[in-house]
Amino acid sequence: MVPRHVAVIMDGNGRWARARGKAVMAGHRAGADAVRRCVRAAIMAEVPFLTLYAFSSENWNRAPEEVTDLTSLLRFYLRHKVAELHDQNVRLEFIGDLSRFDTGLRGEIERARKLTADNTRLTLILALSYGARHDMLLAAKRVAAAALRGEIDPAALNENDFAEHLQTASFPDPDLIVRTSGERRLSNFLLWESAYAELAFLDVMWPDFDETHFAALMTDFAGRERRFGKRLAEASAL
Ligand code: IPE
Ligand code: IPE
Ligand code: MG
Repeated sequence: MVPRHVAVIMDGNGRWARARGKAVMAGHRAGADAVRRCVRAAIMAEVPFLTLYAFSSENWNRAPEEVTDLTSLLRFYLRHKVAELHDQNVRLEFIGDLSRFDTGLRGEIERARKLTADNTRLTLILALSYGARHDMLLAAKRVAAAALRGEIDPAALNENDFAEHLQTASFPDPDLIVRTSGERRLSNFLLWESAYAELAFLDVMWPDFDETHFAALMTDFAGRERRFGKRLAEASAL
């Protein structure tokens, strides 16, 4: 089976650069090329949803120069490469605390979203300034405010009601979460949504990621047995 939603923690740009005696920024630039290969591979595999973790809420704590470099790179790609995604019939969506970006970058984000809103081949969700705990906290605040206004009964609130308040509400939960660079952690990524996700950890640095890695991930996923807590006979009837 093809996963409906693949989510990728694109890690290892810094180590890739260091290993080559290059500046970190060269790693991030090479990482942007890997994004294009990953998107192409997702389209080829007919995966309908792809989320890419490009910038975490904690990444704001990096050196100001690196933060500036990363946001400039984002702005450049949104300005110059969205047309290519549009031509590929890709719809762009964004999750994360976008209010922390400057108005220029927020404008590019809005423009990209609007331009591609009606595309149908792949929904590409960019996680920018994203932290799962922040998103869950915001959802909890919204629920609490609605309860105070008397619009909802907290005792009757179920998991689906709560998830409606997350930024990911309109996307299916990820079936597969991939992390490159050899690290084996989620680093505050889709913590609610990953409850039953399959996890894959690759030893390749993100700038080296290509279509063959993606294809291998699809083969690996197809061989996994997802049970969702049930006995296998029932699970296989899903
Ligand atoms: C991932 O690469 C990209 C971002 C977090 C923006 P890193 O920059 O974290 O690369 P390493 O982990 O230092 O190798
Ligand atoms: C996770 O990578 C965030 C992104 C890939 C955008 P980090 O490099 O920031 O994560 P840690 O600090 O190693 O956990
Ligand atoms: Mg890293």
